[in-house]
Amino acid sequence: MKKPAFERNLIILAIGAFAVFAVGGIITTIIPPLVDRRLVTSDYPVHAYTEQEQRGVQVYLSEGCVYCHTQQIRHLESDKRRYGWRLVDAPPSESWEYVNDKFHFLGTKRTGPDLARVGGKYSDEWHRAHFKDPRNMGEKFKDETGKYQSASVMPSFKHLTDKEMDDLIAYIQTLGRNQNWRVDNQGRPLNDYED
Ligand code: HEC
Repeated sequence: MKKPAFERNLIILAIGAFAVFAVGGIITTIIPPLVDRRLVTSDYPVHAYTEQEQRGVQVYLSEGCVYCHTQQIRHLESDKRRYGWRLVDAPPSESWEYVNDKFHFLGTKRTGPDLARVGGKYSDEWHRAHFKDPRNMGEKFKDETGKYQSASVMPSFKHLTDKEMDDLIAYIQTLGRNQNWRVDNQGRPLNDYED
């Protein structure tokens, strides 16, 4: 029996296979933002990255921070509490907060803490010292010989130039501050980074 044309002709087969796979791509990536504009626009003000912060994004990208850090607070009590700030729970991440991101670092691997709300949590100096020598900071634990060991498995980024470090820190300090969730004792918002 003669095989149908699409089985004999490799080009037709390739086009057919591509068309079948394209359906999945079109339905999951092209159609959703056309149907629901909230995926690409925001009703609330979203921070526009400065040039320095954009360079910081490139450093974050090329240094592979996303392999260990996510940027999404889930609707889990543990996430909200763990990534909160001074007993204020962190609000879960919302889609509009990411509309100005060209690169998405939502991530899946939580080797280190989530960074979606880390902006404003530490000073620039803290970040600089931490990036240079993460294992010399933060929690320590006693091993079986009674010696103190550093809990961090984050590698050192001291190979970055001072400028790259500044750019990276500028970017890190923007994270999660589109929502006014950190307030002082009087309930006044502490999102002061635009000033
Ligand atoms: C091998 C995995 C790994 C990589 C790669 C990594 N980190 Fe980390 N990071 C960790 C771990 C584990 C911690 C928690 C311990 C600590 O504070 O060092 C952490 C902590 C942090 C913290 C403090 C978060 C908090 O809420 O206390 C920041 C900020 C951070 N990392 C940023 C970065 C950036 C930026 C990069 C890329 C330049 C990076 N990390 C790369 C594992 C990693």
